[in-house]
Amino acid sequence: MDILARCKAMEAQGRDIIHMEIGEPDFPAPQPIMDAGLAALHQRQTHYTSAQGLPELRAAISQDYQQRFNCPVEAEQILITPGASGAIQLVFAYVLQARKTLMISDPTYPCNRNVAQLFNAQIDAIAVDEQTDFQLGLEAVKAHWHEDVAAVLIASPSNPTGTVSKQQDLLAIADFLASQGSVLIVDEIYQGLNYASAPSSVAGLRDNIFVINSFSKYFGMTGWRIGWCVAPPAYISSLDAIAQNTYLASSTPAQYAALAAFQQDTLAIVEQRRVIFQQRRDLMCAALNDLPLHVPCIPQGAFYIYANVAAVSADSFHFCQQLLEDTGVAVTPGCDFGQQQAHHYIRFAYTNSEQRLREGMERLSVFLEGGGS
Ligand SMILES: Cc1ncc(COP(=O)(O)O)c(C=O)c1O
Repeated sequence: MDILARCKAMEAQGRDIIHMEIGEPDFPAPQPIMDAGLAALHQRQTHYTSAQGLPELRAAISQDYQQRFNCPVEAEQILITPGASGAIQLVFAYVLQARKTLMISDPTYPCNRNVAQLFNAQIDAIAVDEQTDFQLGLEAVKAHWHEDVAAVLIASPSNPTGTVSKQQDLLAIADFLASQGSVLIVDEIYQGLNYASAPSSVAGLRDNIFVINSFSKYFGMTGWRIGWCVAPPAYISSLDAIAQNTYLASSTPAQYAALAAFQQDTLAIVEQRRVIFQQRRDLMCAALNDLPLHVPCIPQGAFYIYANVAAVSADSFHFCQQLLEDTGVAVTPGCDFGQQQAHHYIRFAYTNSEQRLREGMERLSVFLEGGGS
């Protein structure tokens, strides 16, 4: 937030800032989604839907799981939520009751960790590194296991590292957790943005797995605030009751707009964008390779690169501040994502045009030639 506030102040003074700190696609929502949203407004679709969400949208998501991912997800298992953020709140509200510990990786997406704290959860943040692609594996979960662990949360592809957990590894963790009366929450918000393999999902594959997803990233709908949760059937009525009492329902026009997400024309657009993200990732990784920064794991998904700056700085927060002041390049310091080696890491988001990313890399290179920070 400090970096963002400083960016805004510098822009107000006329400085040209190259944004590589922003965790949302630079593309607007695809046109068919816009058209569907506008049509919904013209048809006066402005009332509440049921808390669980528009039946047509739940049916479309269920069909997508079955057709594209071979996952046995029924429409009844899906709750439409205000973004993945709404879904995580719903699941935490239910899951973090009897037991109070959430196990997550460090580094991790900070909001999920912070929201769990709102529910008075104890956070067990387990240090992960390049040895395990910055992901929690079964070994680490078992090594840190104790009886108060209500849930393990894994984001795949991950923010901030872009690394992906294998489906069989996630299922092995889920099976271990089932034997302990605990659950696995998988944040699949970057699921569609996979550059290494066909995207997969663990939704519906075990009765102790909750999957969080959203139209924000792959479908470019951040501002519409629309996502979903796939929960095991036994939990649906409780989650529905929490939804009825907390946010009542997700945005109705956004739900109608999202109905267009699974149309062939929309999928063609978002797939083209995925290829553009992949080209940007390749460009950035190649450029960073020529600099004394180290990318320990080539990201396989999302739109982030987690780079080690230890060779040029002992304090990545100071590095980010100095880089911004001197060159106008904005990146996120590792301390946003945890404590494990955070002072050695920065996160680049390639949510900017190829031309701007190239310019950013040039400015970074000149900065480092000048001694960096
Ligand atoms: C890993 C992860 N999960 C969840 C979210 C929340 O997304 P939204 O609420 O926009 O769907 C984000 C946003 O950056 C994220 O990076």
